[in-house]
Amino acid sequence: MIAAAAENNALGKDNELLWHLPLDFKRFKTLTTGHPMIMGRKTFESFPKPLPNRKHLVITRNKAYQIDHPDCEVYHSMQAALEACAHEPLVYIIGGGEIYHMAYEIATHIELTRVHTSLAADAFFPDLSTADFQLIESVPMPADERHAFAYTFETYERKKEAGLKNLK
Ligand SMILES: NC(=O)c1ccc[n+]([C@@H]2O[C@H](COP(=O)([O-])OP(=O)(O)OC[C@H]3O[C@@H](n4cnc5c(N)ncnc54)[C@H](OP(=O)(O)O)[C@@H]3O)[C@@H](O)[C@H]2O)c1
Repeated sequence: MIAAAAENNALGKDNELLWHLPLDFKRFKTLTTGHPMIMGRKTFESFPKPLPNRKHLVITRNKAYQIDHPDCEVYHSMQAALEACAHEPLVYIIGGGEIYHMAYEIATHIELTRVHTSLAADAFFPDLSTADFQLIESVPMPADERHAFAYTFETYERKKEAGLKNLK
C-alpha cells in the first residue's frame, strides 16, 4: 500500500486530498511508475485524468461502470484485481480509505507518508499495528514554503510472524 495520512489517519475529505505536498507527489510518482495500481472508484474519480505510465485497476460494485481509457481496467472485487496482476512483481494499492481497510490484511509493505498534523476528514487510513508491521525506514521531511506541514516517509514491512490473512 502507498498512502499519505495525518497523525489521526486522515486521508481526504469530499473526495479530495487534504494537503499539497509536492515532494510526496514526486515520491509517489517515482515509486509507482511502471507498476499496476489498484484503487477504489472514488479515488479514481478524484484524478483529473489517469496518471501516465501506470495501469489503473479500479474497483467498484457497479457492474455497469466503464472507463474508456487504454490504461484503465474495472474490477468488482479486490481479489479479482489482484488475480489480474498476479504475474506482476510489484503492485501498489493506492487507496482510498475503504480500499486500504480492505487491503490491510494482505499488504506486504506500506509506504506511508505520515503528515504531522490532525485534520477533519471523511476517509481514513486504518490503524497501523506494530504487531502486524515493522518500521524499516523513516525519513523526516521539514515543512517549508512549498509544504505546509512537516511529514515523514515511513516504510513498513509485514512482520513474518504476523503472516498474511485472507481478504475480508
Ligand atoms: N492521502 C492519500 O494517500 C489518499 C490516497 C487515495 C485516496 N485518498 C482520498 O481518499 C478519499 C477516497 O476514499 P474513500 O474511502 O472515500 O473511497 P475509495 O476507497 O477510493 O473508493 C470506494 C469505492 O470503492 C468501491 N468498493 C469498495 N469496497 C468494494 C468491494 N468490496 N467490492 C467492490 N467495490 C468496492 C466502491 O465503489 P462503487 O461506489 O462504485 O461501488 C466504493 O464506493 C478521497 O478523499 C481521496 O482524495 C487519499
